[in-house]
Amino acid sequence: MKVVTDIQPLRDQIKAWRMQGLSIAFVPTMGNLHDGHLALVKAAHQHADKVVVSIFINPMQFGLSEDIDNYPKTHEQDKAKLVNENTDLLFLPSSEVIYPKGYTETTFVEVPHISNLYCGKSRPGHFRGVATVVCKLFNLVQPDVACFGSKDYQQLQIIQTMVDDLSMPVKIVPVEIIREKSGLAMSSRNGYLTPEERQIAPQLYKNLQWLAEQIKTNKEYSALCQQTAERINQAGLTTDYISICHAYTLAEATPEDKKVVILASAFCGKARLIDNIPVDL
Ligand code: PAJ
Repeated sequence: MKVVTDIQPLRDQIKAWRMQGLSIAFVPTMGNLHDGHLALVKAAHQHADKVVVSIFINPMQFGLSEDIDNYPKTHEQDKAKLVNENTDLLFLPSSEVIYPKGYTETTFVEVPHISNLYCGKSRPGHFRGVATVVCKLFNLVQPDVACFGSKDYQQLQIIQTMVDDLSMPVKIVPVEIIREKSGLAMSSRNGYLTPEERQIAPQLYKNLQWLAEQIKTNKEYSALCQQTAERINQAGLTTDYISICHAYTLAEATPEDKKVVILASAFCGKARLIDNIPVDL
């Protein structure tokens, strides 16, 4: 696996592959890789000849109250995992390489409406940071396809909307959520959970599964969400939001909508968990 930290060697390698007629799949990450990330790398191999992974803890998507300095950095373990998955190139830039003028002074990309809902409400500016860095990484890597996890469902829809709205020549490939045995969606943030919190964290998914069953026969969405939030809170978590949405626009679902997704977030101690279940009605 080739590891590059600067833009020019990245562009040189991409150009060399292009001259050979090879296609490129890209997996952007913030590192601290687990099986969820590795599922994206596996999917990437199915879509192109060469696989590029980036690890960049993007300061622009962290709020002022969020502790970016404590975000886990495990580069050596990450590299070993990526070698094991036959990754062709790891792009590992510094903040100065991505934001030479600083991230508050740079041009940004913002996908309207959808960025201000749900996680965007709890984390103002977060999705502007995500869209901007993904746009920049797409311009650097120029992939044919890019893989994103449906664990971050809202992020996935925002990236797809950005690509559609700006006619970016990239195919977005969604990859299913990888879960622990308990049902808890894998996340770098799970490392913040104490052993006691790990016992109750799976209750988020358990209750979303309960709600997914209910909505097949009951269209009182608002009351059902309220009831699910109470169940989650009784289990010892603190619900941030829970919503039944149109699967693509993420607008609040109406009883007529056939493809919906249940989106939810809850605090478990200090960790903010997110999860979702798409439901075909
Ligand atoms: P990060 O949280 O590192 O996630 C990188 C990718 O891995 C995302 O597409 C995410 O949805 C996917 N992923 C994480 N956990 C997963 C799981 N349990 N199952 C399936 N996929 C999973 O998301 C980001 O980084 C950043 O916002 C980024 C897109 C890199 C922009 O900075």
